[in-house]
This record gives sequence, structure tokens and C-alpha cells, in this order.
Amino acid sequence: MDRYCRVHPGESCAWARRLRKDQLIQRHTTSSRFEDVVKDNSNAIYQLYWAGTRDEITQRIGRAAAAGSKALIVTMDALPIQARDWGSPVIPAQLDLKTMIQFTPMGLSRPGWLLSYLRRRKLPDLTVPNFGDGTGSVPTMAQAFMQWLATPLPTWKDLEWIRSLWQGPLMVKGIWHPDDARRAIDAGATAIGVSNHGGNNLDSTLSPLCALPAIVDAVDGQAEISFDGGVRRGGDVFKALALGADVTLIGRAWLFGLSANGERGVSEVIAALRSSFDKIMLGVGHNSLSEISIEDLVVPEGFVLERSAFGALPRITT
Ligand SMILES: Cc1cc2nc3c(=O)[nH]c(=O)nc-3n(C[C@H](O)[C@H](O)[C@H](O)COP(=O)(O)O)c2cc1C
Repeated sequence: MDRYCRVHPGESCAWARRLRKDQLIQRHTTSSRFEDVVKDNSNAIYQLYWAGTRDEITQRIGRAAAAGSKALIVTMDALPIQARDWGSPVIPAQLDLKTMIQFTPMGLSRPGWLLSYLRRRKLPDLTVPNFGDGTGSVPTMAQAFMQWLATPLPTWKDLEWIRSLWQGPLMVKGIWHPDDARRAIDAGATAIGVSNHGGNNLDSTLSPLCALPAIVDAVDGQAEISFDGGVRRGGDVFKALALGADVTLIGRAWLFGLSANGERGVSEVIAALRSSFDKIMLGVGHNSLSEISIEDLVVPEGFVLERSAFGALPRITT
């Protein structure tokens, strides 16, 4: 999980508290200082993008360790140039008068949302505090994006280098090729994040659910496997676990709750996920997670990709 105080004006880390109360782990990159998030949810995990110089990346990893991050997630699949057919939302460089005028029609079309910000007398800021070194200036979203664009793509050697800087559990997120899962483990990953970034990166990309069993097979118990992408209800969690994931992450689902109703919205999303998952467990007659298996599913022929089907797929890096 990551983000966003920008979509709801509530206390900056109310959602972090909610996730802690629900005993959920939270993954964090962007809009709130990681140090503040950890205060409200000691289960928070710092998520790193390969952006900036080695010194800057070293500083960020140092910040994560000093703040007490339980693990480090390195997201390797995100492309700074996202060629989405439907485009991407405009991210203004700063919240100046010109931007305010530009976004006034959008704000006025959502009066309740706008009013809640006005009541707090605080507009969302457009900075990315976790891209800074923790002491000095904080880049704006646009500056962080430019930094990311200017950074050469990471290699497996870079991942080994990150491993040398981080002593704790390390997840490589954005894997959907079994060979890449193996290589990530060889480079020191203790967890594999099977994900296609929620389909937000590359149009027509492979569904990570189809790739999951082959990756589970390749990993052969040598790393934990997390799955994300399209998890909206308990049944989606169940299917991912049945296909071999150890955990599932949610990206948009909780963000929808946060946007609609702040901390309470997040709580309701989590409660809905939990209750639908419990009902499925009841329906299939399982008492514990360890009883879930692929036998619980009717998997259409060809849905799950055999290892041999991956040969021609693009690889995340060299
Ligand atoms: C608005 C938004 C922001 C995201 N930011 C990040 C990020 O900073 N780091 C990251 O690893 N993944 C990020 N993701 C991808 C999610 O971590 C996750 O892989 C994806 O959303 C899962 O799909 P789902 O949204 O269908 O659950 C983001 C996704 C969305 C929708």
C-alpha cells in the first residue's frame, strides 16, 4: 500500500493509524514523510524507486533504516515514461495561482471534497518528501519525475548493490517472469513482488495472476511471494493465495476508500475485504490459510502459463 494524503484532507497520517489498527503492513513512497508514517504505523515498509544518483539512493536507504522500516521494497517495473492510451493525469509543478485557476472548474465540480480541504485550511502539497535526503530541500513531484527520467535503468548489479546497503528483508516488486524471480533471489531478494503495477505501466501487459504459479514454481520456497493487481474483494485474495502467493497487496482499493471517506473509508474497504474473504473460507469449508490450494479453483485451460510460455516475454532489465 502506498500514498496519499493528497486525495483526502484528513490528518496526514490518519490512514496509517487505521492500517496499524487493522494490523496491516503499509508500503510507502510518496506523499508523507516516511518518518511520520512510521510513528503511526510501525509496520510501515519503505519503498524505493531506482531514481537519482547512488548517493541519493544511499541516503534514502539510510533514512528508511534509521526510521525503522521493517523491510525494503525496490520497485523495478515502473517506467518513468508511461505510454498510457488513456493518458495520465496532469501533475502541476506547483500550487501557484495559475494552477489554482486551471483546476478551479474541477474543484467546483466536487464541492464537498473542496470544502473539506478549505475547512482544514490546508491544500495538498505537491512535494515528494521521501525523495529528499530527510534534512534538506524536498523535491516537487515534477522534479522527482525529472530525476527519475534522467536515471539510467537499473541492472541486476544495481540490485546487488542495494542488497549490500540493506541488511533486512528485501522485496523486488514488479516481477512477472520466472527467470527474473530467480535472478532477483540470486541478487539477494528475500521476497518477490509479482505485479504489473496494476496494469498502469505497459498497455496489454500480462496479468500477473497468470504468471503467478510459474513464478511460485521457479522460486521453490526460497523467497516469500506477494501478489498484487486487481484485488478488489476477498475472492481475489483467495484466488491469489490458491495460486501460490503468500500475501496480497492492494493498491487502488484502499485509495478509493481514502478518497471517498478518509480513515473511515479505508476501514470500510478493509472490513469488506475481510468479510468477503471469511465468507469464501466458510463456503469452501477451510479453517486455515494453509488449507487453501489450487484444488479449490476451477482454472480455465491455458489461463495459467506454463514455464515454457515465458521465453519470448520482455525482461525487466539486463
Ligand atoms: C495511484 C497509484 C500510485 C502508485 N504508486 C506506486 C508507487 O509509488 N510504488 C509502487 O511500487 N507501486 C505503486 N503503484 C502500484 C501499486 O503498488 C500496485 O502494484 C497496483 O496498484 C496494484 O494494482 P491494484 O491497484 O489493482 O490493486 C501505484 C498504483 C496507483 C494506482
